[in-house]
Amino acid sequence: MKVYIKTYGCQMNERDSEAAAAMLTEQGYEMTEREDDADILIFNTCSVREQAENKAIGKIGILQRLKRIKPDIFIGVMGCMAQNRGQELLDKLPHLDFVIGTGKLHMLPEIVNAEVKKRHRELQIEDDVSVLTGLGAHYKVSKEKVSAFIAIMRGCNRFCTYCIVPYVRGREKSRTIPDIMQEARELVANGIKEICLLGQNVAAYGLDGKAVSPDSNYSPFAELLTELNKIDGLARIRFTSPHPAYFNDTLIDAIASLSKVCKSVHLPLQSGSDRILKLMNRNYTSAQYMEIVNKLKNKVPKITFSTDVIVAFPGETEEDFNATRKIMNDVGFDNAYIFKYSPRKGTKAADMPDQVPQKTKEKRNQLLLGDLAKRCAKHNSEMVGHSYEVLTEGPSKRNAEKWSGRASNNKMVIFAPVSSLEKGDLVNVAIKRCTSMTLFGQIVD
Ligand code: 5AD
Ligand code: SF4
Repeated sequence: MKVYIKTYGCQMNERDSEAAAAMLTEQGYEMTEREDDADILIFNTCSVREQAENKAIGKIGILQRLKRIKPDIFIGVMGCMAQNRGQELLDKLPHLDFVIGTGKLHMLPEIVNAEVKKRHRELQIEDDVSVLTGLGAHYKVSKEKVSAFIAIMRGCNRFCTYCIVPYVRGREKSRTIPDIMQEARELVANGIKEICLLGQNVAAYGLDGKAVSPDSNYSPFAELLTELNKIDGLARIRFTSPHPAYFNDTLIDAIASLSKVCKSVHLPLQSGSDRILKLMNRNYTSAQYMEIVNKLKNKVPKITFSTDVIVAFPGETEEDFNATRKIMNDVGFDNAYIFKYSPRKGTKAADMPDQVPQKTKEKRNQLLLGDLAKRCAKHNSEMVGHSYEVLTEGPSKRNAEKWSGRASNNKMVIFAPVSSLEKGDLVNVAIKRCTSMTLFGQIVD
């Protein structure tokens, strides 16, 4: 039987979809990229913004017709919306066969098998203990890949006032260092050269709710990075997403000094206005954010930053918005995920006064996107004429004669391969020209 998985949302979902595919393949199912070719359709959903939920609900709703034509087909939902609105989905969408929340992912093969055997409808949403230990680890990666995700922790204790994640994903739970090391070593033995550590708040890795004073330099996450950095054959370590409140000097020093940790950091800012940051319950000021950035810039002169920003949070004035615009230019973010504030039921911000009109949301969003495009074009053109170490990923999707890869600052680079080149090799590429998205270059020794 063929399975199609559609993924919405963040990298944690991408990773879960990969894990789901690996588990189902092990059970003898075949994965397909074509929806119309599949016997089982699985939607890995996201709840972070309303638009993401609506997209998935719309998509699954349309499938009711398909199910009438092809009654044998199986349709399932996993991910955050399954966790958060599972019962409602089963009630509203009679053509759904199963709903598996984020805490039950490891049961997917069992549930799919049971479904296939006897067509009944299932709801599985309570967390299992094995969600961190049993799953994450040890799923096989595709031989095609040079880069893999590792989920090091799940859940979030922060309760930013706009965010639904702590309600859906529950409290922080971290895997142990030996468990993560074992998974990383297995991935490297299978040809993986780059790992990306995932969690809702990776910088709080290992704390699991333990209160740590803001002045403390205790950082289990830095310890994890130090251990991973020792793995022979591993070339690069990335991570996403950290909360700035956990960026103490120990972590800053680890990022600066560990050779495999990429010198490009994703550090969610959310807003540049102290008033809005407070309303968001972010627990840092714009000055504290800049202090982290400046410490990193001083220790690693070539470091680059990317971020997440929300425009039009309730009460955001023109002045607040301009503060965000200014700090984004001051940091000089290389990339930014810019989100229009979306009220999520049950979060504090959804009930705050002065919700910003849609038109203003759009306008502010466009302004930040415009700033970003200008900055990216400038950064890319500054890379022309310099050489960068690139992790090769094989033939480029657009042009099979050229290869693609990523520089350590995460920019995509296209170049002509040389004869002995293998996927996963690290090469130096001199950048010759660029567009706003892509760099083109030539391998140099
Ligand atoms: N509205 C808009 N953006 C949001 N994010 C989280 N919740 C919301 C919301 N309600 C954004 C934040 C976060 C990213 C993953 O999604 O910027 O860092
Ligand atoms: Fe949401 Fe804030 Fe936790 Fe990130 S740190 S997942 S934005 S509550």
